[in-house]
Order: sequence, then structure tokens, then C-alpha cells
Amino acid sequence: MEISLNPAEPRNWHGSVLILGVFERDLVEQIKTLELQYQKYLLERLKENNFKGKPGEVSSSHLLGDYSHKLILIGLGNPENLLLDDLRKATAIGIRESIGSKGKLGIALPWDLFNPESVVKAVGEAIQLSLFKDLRFQSKPERNTHPENFELLGISKISEKTLKEIPSICAGVELARELVGAPANSLTPTALAEKALLIANEYGLDSKILEKEDCLKREMGAYLAVAQGSDLKPKFIHLIYRPEGPIKRRLAIVGKGLTFDSGGYNLKVGAAQIEMMKFDMGGSAAVIGAARAIGELRPLNIEVHFIIAACENMINGSAIHPGDIIQASNGKTIEINNTDAEGRLTLADALVYACEQEPDAIVDLATLTGACVIALGEEIAGLWTDNNELAESLILAANNCGEGLWRMPLKSSYREGLKSMLADIKNTGPRAGGAITAGLFLKEFVNDSIPWAHIDIAGTVWSDKDRGIDPAGATGYGVRTLVNWVCSQSED
Ligand code: BES
Ligand code: MG
Ligand code: ZN
Repeated sequence: MEISLNPAEPRNWHGSVLILGVFERDLVEQIKTLELQYQKYLLERLKENNFKGKPGEVSSSHLLGDYSHKLILIGLGNPENLLLDDLRKATAIGIRESIGSKGKLGIALPWDLFNPESVVKAVGEAIQLSLFKDLRFQSKPERNTHPENFELLGISKISEKTLKEIPSICAGVELARELVGAPANSLTPTALAEKALLIANEYGLDSKILEKEDCLKREMGAYLAVAQGSDLKPKFIHLIYRPEGPIKRRLAIVGKGLTFDSGGYNLKVGAAQIEMMKFDMGGSAAVIGAARAIGELRPLNIEVHFIIAACENMINGSAIHPGDIIQASNGKTIEINNTDAEGRLTLADALVYACEQEPDAIVDLATLTGACVIALGEEIAGLWTDNNELAESLILAANNCGEGLWRMPLKSSYREGLKSMLADIKNTGPRAGGAITAGLFLKEFVNDSIPWAHIDIAGTVWSDKDRGIDPAGATGYGVRTLVNWVCSQSED
């Protein structure tokens, strides 16, 4: 797949598919110029099909003549209401409509309504990401034909850098989607660690895998407690991106890496959708996807640590019992009143380890709570942090790439709900405010002096239906926000 710019106006362009964004208000005028160029009666046909140019409407027609063979019109509504994200969605709709065609595709959108660099990045990402299809698990993969060359028409003055970043970022998202989409019998903690090592080798990252014995030496009792119920070995993954030249800031990104979450003895039942819990490593997938992109983009001045405590939450004779008391590597004792709140146990030791790297900021991503899904749904992840600057920079990074992120309160009085009669803390509080107490639990394992943010991606990791630039399935949520955020930190 190749995405390039072509200053040609759509009307002078030759290729197999032409996608045009059209506004509702001056639809008739726009179509009349198209009729002169391409095809008579287009307007009549659009009227018949009730196409008005409203956001998300699509109309495709086969053309005769020597211009494009297929014309796809996408409604954009009216310019004053248009958001950058609408252009992502419009692109995705047009691109999906082009499936089945071959050759060169041209796309013309109102590039100048926003900063053209941002539009090119948004549209470029939308093109590549909306075509993603995971065929790895089919014995006879059914490949769709689709255009291979994409030309953004009527635009030329964009920095080479912007255009070059698109495939790296998208490859990071695709990697995350593949990791999340892989079932638990294929993506084990060992397979995740092997993939991380491959990425490290390919993109020039330092790497370290801590085995169970190493974790025992570090007294990671919380992480190992979760892992002990599985026949599979835990793998603690640490990749490091080191830039060429001086280092001005050091960051740590931590991802929840449960390759399967059965719930443990508090087994998931009823509406809990146990069969979906292969996606419980979505945080770690975003971290590895971001590591791949960052290793390729090589931002200056910034060192980044990628940290994952990978394991499974299963049931066997050695699994933790509900009520067990264990000790994390910062010395805190935890009463496990619910074995299904396992992610925070693994993250506890991963966050202590992250603090030991003495970074300037830590961000963790985790499919942590069903409560977050209830609060924010499938298109918005929750953000918890006490640090306003960190919150702003993460929200800006997410907004710029169209990933939903909403700041939630880290209400300290709710810490009360985690009080244990016996140990320093319990791993779950009351049902109400469950995503908040989860964040407060994590906070216990982070040094107060290090800015830290927690992102709950339980809702955004997976999409049941095609949605904008995310085809149904694993979304790869978080990669683009993380890459944007890291790159924004490197520019300071
Ligand atoms: N992995 C789940 C969270 C989850 C639930 C993600 C639904 C995506 C969809 C997590 O380990 C979990 O089980 N959390 C419990 C916590 C509870 C026991 C306090 C939950 O949210 O039900
Ligand atoms: Mg769980
Ligand atoms: Zn979980």
C-alpha cells in the first residue's frame, strides 16, 4: 500500500476509483460540475437515491469514459459543523466502498478547513486502518482486492515527515490489533514476550525479559499471585527506546498483559463474556504497538520504557483463593477479596518496577474494569491522574488522532472503600465507582513524586461492529495516542 500526494485537481485525474467529499449546502452546484466532467444524469440519480450530502451518506456509480471508473461521493454535511474526525469517518466509508476495485484510488476532501498536515495524517491513517483485515486464522484466507495506490488529490505542500509517519503509526496499530485478536491458545505470555523481543530486535530497542525466578527475587508477590493459577510461565517484559543524542526526558509506559482472564476462583459468569477475555492484554498490545512505531520514528531527546507483566488468570490447584493475603514488591500487603480484580495486582508490581526506572512520567493502559465500560461506553477510554499537565498532554494527544479519552476523578475519599481488616489494602472496593477505586488501588504503587496517569481501555479495546476507521474486532486503541504523546514530549 502506498499513500502519496498529487496536486492534480480531481477533474484532471485518471485512475480507477475517485472518492469525493461533498457538502450538503452546495451539492447541486458540485454535482453539476461533475456531470460536465463525468456523467450525465448524476444529479437525477442522486436524487432518486435520496443522497443529500448529509454526514456519512455514500453514493457510488460506475462511470464510462476515460477518467475514473468508479465515483464514490461521500456526504460531509455542512462545513461549519465538520470535525476532523468526520473526515476520518468519511474516508473510512469511501475506502470500504472501494473494496473490490483495483489499481489507483484518488481522494479529494476539503484539506484546507483544518491544518492540512493534520488532515493528511488523519486521512492517511484512516485509509490504511480501515482496510485492516485479520486473516491469520483462516485455513484458506479470503483476500479482498482493493486499490493499492492512494493519492490525496489537490494537495502538495505537506512535510515529508508527516507522510512518512503514517505507515509507522498504522503498523503499530495493526500489530496491536493482531496481538489483541489472537486467541489465548495462540498468544500466551511466552508468545507475547517473543513478539516483544522480535520488535525490539527489528526496531533497535533494548530488551529484557524477567523470568519467574527474577520476579521472585524482586518479591513481585502481587504479579506472581495472579500467575500461579496458570500452567503457563509468566513473562515480565521490559523494552527500552534510547534516542540518538542527548536525553532530556524519560518516560515509562506500562500495559496490562493478561493473555486470558477467566476471573480465577471468582470465575466470570453470566454477562461477563468470559470468551472475550483474550483481549485482556489490550494495554500491553498498545504498549508493544507504540514501541514498534517509536522505534521506527526515533523521536529525539526522549527515552521510553515499555513495561508489561504478562501472565494468565486461571484456575488450578495452586491458584489464589479468594481471601488470600499477598505482598507486592513495594512491601504493601493486599487482601485479595476478588480474584477477578487481577489486572491491578499485576500492574501493582509493574508500576513499582516502572518507578525504579526513575522516569519523569508514567502512563499505564489497562482493560481494567467493566465499570469503565458502563461509564464511558466503547468509544471513550477513562483517564485518571492527579497531574493536570500530564492530563492535558494526553488528552491533546488523543484528540489529535481521534481516540476518545475523558478525564475522570481520582477521588481520594473513595480510598476508604479499599480498607482491609487484616492487610494494608483490599484489591476491590464497592461496586459503585469501581473504575475509580481501581485507579486509587494502582496509585498505592506509584511514588508520589512521579507524575502518573492511568488509562482504562476496557471499553475501547474491542469493537463489535465496523466503526469509523476501526473494522469490527480489535481496535488497537492507544497506540496512536501513545505515539503522539511520546513525540509531543520529545519536542518540548
Ligand atoms: N479484565 C476485566 C475487566 C473487563 C471487564 C474488561 C469487561 C473488559 C470488559 C478485569 O480483570 C475484571 O475482571 N474486573 C472486574 C473487577 C471487579 C471484580 C471489581 C470487573 O470489572 O468486573
Ligand atoms: Mg478480571
Ligand atoms: Zn482482567
